[in-house]
Amino acid sequence: MNHTIDTILNHRSIRKFTEDKLTDEQIHILIKAAQQASTSSNVMAYTIIGVTDPVLKKELRKISGQPYVEHNGHLFVFCGDLHRITQLSTPEERIEMEETIESTEQFIVTIIDAALSAQNLAIAAESIGLGICYLGSLRNDIYHVSELLGLPDYVVPLFGMAVGTPAQQPELKPRLPFEVVYHENKYLADEIQQPAISSYDAELLEYYQTRSSNTKVDTWSEQMIRKYRNPIRMDVSSFVKEQKLNKR
Ligand SMILES: Cc1cc2nc3c(=O)[nH]c(=O)nc-3n(C[C@H](O)[C@H](O)[C@H](O)COP(=O)(O)O)c2cc1C
Repeated sequence: MNHTIDTILNHRSIRKFTEDKLTDEQIHILIKAAQQASTSSNVMAYTIIGVTDPVLKKELRKISGQPYVEHNGHLFVFCGDLHRITQLSTPEERIEMEETIESTEQFIVTIIDAALSAQNLAIAAESIGLGICYLGSLRNDIYHVSELLGLPDYVVPLFGMAVGTPAQQPELKPRLPFEVVYHENKYLADEIQQPAISSYDAELLEYYQTRSSNTKVDTWSEQMIRKYRNPIRMDVSSFVKEQKLNKR
């Protein structure tokens, strides 16, 4: 195809990195790539925090329970951010802006903008031979992460990303069949999706049983049912509201 599509289709999460640190030049080009992502109304409703302090990295590793949060070439934390916008205004204007800034709609904007910038960064990193792993595990204690990073009102830490030189080459993880995720004109009936999901369960089972490390017996359907039966991170909702986002 072409180099960009090859890079995208070769993505797999990397959870073991060499000790090589990203250079300042690499960090700059990755952030530039992140910033060039489309952004709702040019709001750029995110901030990316690079974590270089080893003590802080250790704390974040404890929260996530994942060693690659500490051991990587660079750690980025992607935050949804409308704080910057509130700083542009006079106190009177700020009061008038409150209703919009605190809306669910604008909270969604921060999440979309941050995610798009992150995925641009991920593809740019992978295109130069680096590996990446997203880290939702930072939300295991969102209050503590926010405190550690000194986040003001209207800023929420959404996820991290560990980037670095891969010290492993995991197999590609299969995805759901095309016809399950791509529907034409209207939402596809469950009975039509189900056989394709069953065949994906068989494919993922085979992948888990034959991959080079961490083999297990599991299917996608079983995994999802387990996941959604166990509520986690239920404090995220109150945290977001305390940061004055998603309030109305
Ligand atoms: C927003 C987000 C958060 C994630 N959080 C974690 C995480 O905390 N730890 C981890 O090991 N992987 C994490 N992942 C990686 C996913 O588990 C991974 O992308 C998925 O299983 C597909 O595997 P692949 O990326 O190797 O293709 C996250 C991915 C996304 C998009």
